Amino acid sequence: MPTNVLAYAAHSPTEALVPYRLDRRDPRPDDVVIEILYCGVCHSDLHTARNDWGWSSYPIVPGHEIIGRVLEVGQAVTKFKAGDRVGVGCLVDSCHHCEACEHGEEQYCDGAVYTYGGVDRHDHSVTQGGYSQKVVVSDKFVLRIPDGLDLKGAAPLLCAGITTWSPLRHWKVGKGSRVAVVGLGGLGHMALELAKALGADVTLFTRSKGKEADAQRLGAEHIVLSTDPSQMEAVQSRFDLIIDTVPYVHDLKPYMPTLRTDGTLVLVGYIGALDSCLDSSPMVFRRRSVAGSLIGGIRETQEMLDFCGKHGITSDVEVIRMQDINEAFERMLKSDVKYRFVIDMASLKA
Ligand SMILES: NC(=O)c1ccc[n+]([C@@H]2O[C@H](COP(=O)([O-])OP(=O)(O)OC[C@H]3O[C@@H](n4cnc5c(N)ncnc54)[C@H](OP(=O)(O)O)[C@@H]3O)[C@@H](O)[C@H]2O)c1
Ligand SMILES: [Zn+2]
Ligand SMILES: [Zn+2]
Repeated sequence: MPTNVLAYAAHSPTEALVPYRLDRRDPRPDDVVIEILYCGVCHSDLHTARNDWGWSSYPIVPGHEIIGRVLEVGQAVTKFKAGDRVGVGCLVDSCHHCEACEHGEEQYCDGAVYTYGGVDRHDHSVTQGGYSQKVVVSDKFVLRIPDGLDLKGAAPLLCAGITTWSPLRHWKVGKGSRVAVVGLGGLGHMALELAKALGADVTLFTRSKGKEADAQRLGAEHIVLSTDPSQMEAVQSRFDLIIDTVPYVHDLKPYMPTLRTDGTLVLVGYIGALDSCLDSSPMVFRRRSVAGSLIGGIRETQEMLDFCGKHGITSDVEVIRMQDINEAFERMLKSDVKYRFVIDMASLKA
């Protein structure tokens, strides 16, 4: 018998999230049943609840920065046992045999199944996310949370952490690299911490005054107000890699000249057309690139979690009750969060 659990769901792009009940399946042989303790609030949850990308289905239970404890496991599961501290990110399944899957890059698999709004490959049900009491996930998509990491602070690693870690690793950031991050929000603050821990010289581009002290504490050695042309001029031809986390349409032209020859600006924030904002000349004259990057694979996510365990890296979180999610979405739109909301799922029982 499936287990009926409490959750919060959006029923249309214009309505607030409200309490909702959903069924979690009985564990299959490879499944892990997880009691959700905390769930981070990603800007993608808001984009999905409000159908910003045009592909949302309703009702939808968002949440893909899931931290919990194992309640039980299917009979074929050997990696996890009841009581283990585990996490689930943006993916819960993939095809397992394409080139992307073989390379451990399940996020680029055509059959990748997202944690919410995806379609289960076995029973064809629509997946529902972590704004809920429990989740049931195949063991291959369950991550181990290193001992010593605070569970609340670890939740955002499952999306904000891996989404910024993956490009840092792909573009081989290390000692001596010059990295810039655009936007100090959920993704941005993880990017600062991770780039710093990898040994890079780190700069923050922000349009907001007043984030300087936080940015420095998180690892930025330099802070550039992106709305000030003289500050932008001072960092021309400086960066090997820029990680751009801005969620909405914005102009890339001011950032491109700040890349060195062969430098790359990687978009992880905005998804959609930016063509009128792109000028090829800084690319042609200095072989610069504009790229994109999507979350990260499961192996890479575990690597990132283990790195964070070793270096004591967690997210700056503001813990909220499930009932406060709609206010949290509004505050996130105003960049009024330092730097990630995390829902304490115990509040859902109340
Ligand atoms: N590629 C992926 O796999 C992936 C994974 C997760 C999330 N995402 C996407 O990444 C984006 C960021 O997510 P998040 O959770 O980090 O969001 P967030 O916490 O809201 O942070 C976004 C930051 O961008 C800056 N910003 C916001 N609106 C802006 C605007 N109109 N113009 C310029 N700067 C603006 C702000 O920083 P300042 O105040 O410092 O300027 C803000 O703090 C979202 O679109 C999300 O869907 C992508
Ligand atoms: Zn996310
Ligand atoms: Zn695949």
